[in-house]
Amino acid sequence: MLSEKVGNLLNDQINKEMYSAYLYLDFANFYERKGLDGYANWYDIQAKEEMDHAIGILRYLQDNDYVVTLSAIAKPDKELVNLDDPLKYGLEHEKYVTSLIHNIYGAAYEDKDFRTMKFLDWYVEEQGEEEVNANDLLTKFELFGHDPQSLYSLDNELATRTYTQASILGTSEE
Ligand code: FEO
Repeated sequence: MLSEKVGNLLNDQINKEMYSAYLYLDFANFYERKGLDGYANWYDIQAKEEMDHAIGILRYLQDNDYVVTLSAIAKPDKELVNLDDPLKYGLEHEKYVTSLIHNIYGAAYEDKDFRTMKFLDWYVEEQGEEEVNANDLLTKFELFGHDPQSLYSLDNELATRTYTQASILGTSEE
């Protein structure tokens, strides 16, 4: 059912999602150092979501008898200097991840692997949301982030974000 090509692409995607988590932890770490705890919170939660994305794919492969191989996660390689650097890199990164998901979807489509296409629908939709969120963060910063009082308000807004396990993992552990 699952071809070697599609299986391998999904296996690689586990690593990409874990790298995303690591990258966002690096962003959170940067904002923590800068005293912007709300931005740090936002990326901290984003990192947890990325790990959920990775585990969702891992479980799918396990359920479809693919032998998963976990490989080393690369070092986050973005040089963070200005306060909006993570926001710019974040949007760029999500667009890249979207292209990866679409590439796997295309391979599943070629294989007439309808099960994997259905599984990936969740990721396609999630990527749309992640790009909107990343774009919003950047737009708001560009509009308001250069005024200390407005930045304080933005930071407080982002501090209210809470983590919810991604629905791809189900609502309960069964
Ligand atoms: Fe799992 Fe933000 O892509």
